[in-house]
Amino acid sequence: MTSIQSIKAIQVLDSRGLPTVSCNIALDSGANAMAMVPSGASTGTKEALELRDGDSLYMGKGVEKAVDNINNIICPVLIGLDPRNQKLIDQKLIELDGTDDKSNLGANALLAVSLAVSHAAAKDKNIPLHSHFSDIYRDITGDVTSPNLPMPMLNILNGGEHADNNIDIQEFMIIPKGASTFKEAMRWSSEIYWNLKSILKDNNLSTSVGDEGGFAPNLQSNEEAIQLILQSIEVSNLEPGKDVFLALDCAASEFFDGTNYNLLGEGRSLDSDSFASYLESLVDKYPIISIEDGMDEHDYDGWKTLTNKIGSKCQLVGDDLFVTNKKIFKEGIDNGLANSILIKFNQIGSITETIETIHLANLNNYKSIISHRSGETEDTTIADLAVGLGAGQIKTGAPCRSDRVAKYNRLLWIEEEFSSLSLFNE
Ligand code: PGA
Ligand code: ZN
Repeated sequence: MTSIQSIKAIQVLDSRGLPTVSCNIALDSGANAMAMVPSGASTGTKEALELRDGDSLYMGKGVEKAVDNINNIICPVLIGLDPRNQKLIDQKLIELDGTDDKSNLGANALLAVSLAVSHAAAKDKNIPLHSHFSDIYRDITGDVTSPNLPMPMLNILNGGEHADNNIDIQEFMIIPKGASTFKEAMRWSSEIYWNLKSILKDNNLSTSVGDEGGFAPNLQSNEEAIQLILQSIEVSNLEPGKDVFLALDCAASEFFDGTNYNLLGEGRSLDSDSFASYLESLVDKYPIISIEDGMDEHDYDGWKTLTNKIGSKCQLVGDDLFVTNKKIFKEGIDNGLANSILIKFNQIGSITETIETIHLANLNNYKSIISHRSGETEDTTIADLAVGLGAGQIKTGAPCRSDRVAKYNRLLWIEEEFSSLSLFNE
């Protein structure tokens, strides 16, 4: 049996220039691997706790405590364990922390170790990480996966918490559904992105970008953003609604005040029913096939209304609503909220729990979308997770900025090397 020989964590920087946790694990077989954790900005209130130092360094955003927790508390307990047994390792991590929200050692500490273990084990088995994730899914759930290349959802226009512009909806995404390969999906997306840039320039609008690499101009309305994107698709000689579809992440919790949804950029304030009707009107008017966090994470009645209104014709994705948490997700399923779940492993803090949540989605016919965070690194684990679990969809930002394209580039290589995998398109 191979065993963990050493674990070492340090503080590194993420795509926003803020500290995050990086962890390296060495095995007695000689294999070693490193991973880094991402970090959100428009976070759900029920996410596992990201431990920050809160002192005078890095505006309080340092993660030295989380790093120390790995080096001094987690490391001694995991030395000698079998890295192939992800479930056991994650169980140890969860027990060591001992809280529901990982607030003792920090979800960022736990996840860094959980990720690095999976990478080290894949190297030790001499198989690609995505194949190892298929194995872990089987070990944990007893079910098998159907690996594929995920359909990308590319956020090419940023608003909300991810940009300094006046757009209230956080993400305007393209889904190149008509593409027959991942490679083609990326070419189309890059061309649309560049054509959008030209259109913005021609209209004297800003071409600076937001946290996820999408453009962040000031516009009159959310609909103007949609129309500019539709133009950029057409200029790329592609047909909206046939080759390329649209998706939104409203991140609605960011502009809900407990009663109303405040679209400050448009100077409008809508109650829950009216906001659901507004989203329905967008879906009826434009080729929008997916809406994430259309309602506030606590507005369950609003979620029910929205799901009843458009759940049969539109993917409705719970991000802040479900926070990748099996228990919270189960309640949502039982109450008929949404029909899909966004998967962010740092919302819950371990690979095992992430996989359990995806399994629950599979059992209940909810779609899973594997997702980056707005604060990212060059770590590409989510690309392999999407492939190995056959999730079918990934959202990891614009086709621009290395923290975003690192994931897409990893998928391009997987497609090249594994010709049996095809682009998911359902
Ligand atoms: P976050 O944004 O990483 O800032 O939470 C991404 C999202 O809301 O999907
Ligand atoms: Zn979201």
